[in-house]
Amino acid sequence: MAKQPQSNGMNRRDFLRTGTAVATSAMLLPLTGTSVFGAFAGGNATVSIPAARLNNGVMMPLLGFGTNTLTGDVGERCVADAISVGYRLIDTAHVYGNEEAVGAGIKKSGIDRKELFVTSKLWVDDSGYEGTKKAFQTSIDKLGTDYLDLYLIHRPRGDVKGTWKAFEELYEAGKIKAIGVSNFEPDQLAELLSYAKIKPANNQIETHVFFQEHVNYASLKDREIQMQAWSPFAAGRNGIFSNPTLASIAKKHGKTIAQVCLRWHYQRGIVAIPRSSQKAHMIENLNIFDFELDAADLQTIAPLDLNRTQFPEWS
Ligand SMILES: NC(=O)c1ccc[n+]([C@@H]2O[C@H](COP(=O)([O-])OP(=O)(O)OC[C@H]3O[C@@H](n4cnc5c(N)ncnc54)[C@H](OP(=O)(O)O)[C@@H]3O)[C@@H](O)[C@H]2O)c1
Repeated sequence: MAKQPQSNGMNRRDFLRTGTAVATSAMLLPLTGTSVFGAFAGGNATVSIPAARLNNGVMMPLLGFGTNTLTGDVGERCVADAISVGYRLIDTAHVYGNEEAVGAGIKKSGIDRKELFVTSKLWVDDSGYEGTKKAFQTSIDKLGTDYLDLYLIHRPRGDVKGTWKAFEELYEAGKIKAIGVSNFEPDQLAELLSYAKIKPANNQIETHVFFQEHVNYASLKDREIQMQAWSPFAAGRNGIFSNPTLASIAKKHGKTIAQVCLRWHYQRGIVAIPRSSQKAHMIENLNIFDFELDAADLQTIAPLDLNRTQFPEWS
């Protein structure tokens, strides 16, 4: 994301939100899709992952697996484990340096490519028409696939217009099933929409209980662009896994804090992509479709919003 001027600790996202009533998190929103994407046996229960219908008709699992920092042999093992317990959406990016490991994990899993939903992202150094075409080919070669389900502009930097033209051509050639963006603010999306022939299907942004993203949420809903949450656990920051408010809601439902967080995303219709290096956590994180946060739970979670990034080093 382009560096924004900071004053009094307020970044542009904070500024955008100033004066905006924070109420949407208390609403139980209808889910955007009904199809089932994959199924797994977690404990004694068999759980299916519902899917969202993107604005081009492509179905996207509402819960996926994040791979940032999972590189080399660890990355390969984690991706294979994640697929074996039921994940079908795998999120990677050129800049994670793990597309080969992710590809090896997919191969190791033995699951048919067509059953998976693979996302990668174009890094800023490769922006522009030619750079994008080359970077896309490198990504799919490393992943050992001949298409991506979703390709995202990782950050709104560089020659976004040239990049989007290349994305549209790759989409029209059937090399990418859906094209989208990541870390785009509403004004940056508006600019892209002013010249796009094909509307982005998805915007992947930082979203968790400490940064609930109400402005982006409303704007993406209006534009019929699927919202996707990166760092759905704030990568463990701000004591999320020992937060007493979340702990009391978890206790009430006989669930864990991680499951409450992921259920909260799911009930907002947001695709979450939690990362874990532990198979037990991977299974736990999938096991969120057998309970429901009620209106009181959602009202209790709403004030946890600090309305700012937990990753200021990336702003
Ligand atoms: N587009 C972007 O700019 C962007 C930026 C950041 C991330 N992302 C994507 O979003 C994905 C997820 O975000 P993230 O990797 O930053 O972090 P995250 O998913 O918010 O949190 C990961 C952390 O949570 C722990 N964890 C997972 N399940 C747990 C459980 N059930 N109980 C307790 N701890 C648990 C993991 O530890 P264990 O390994 O011990 O389970 C790990 O330390 C990334 O991997 C990446 O794919 C995208």
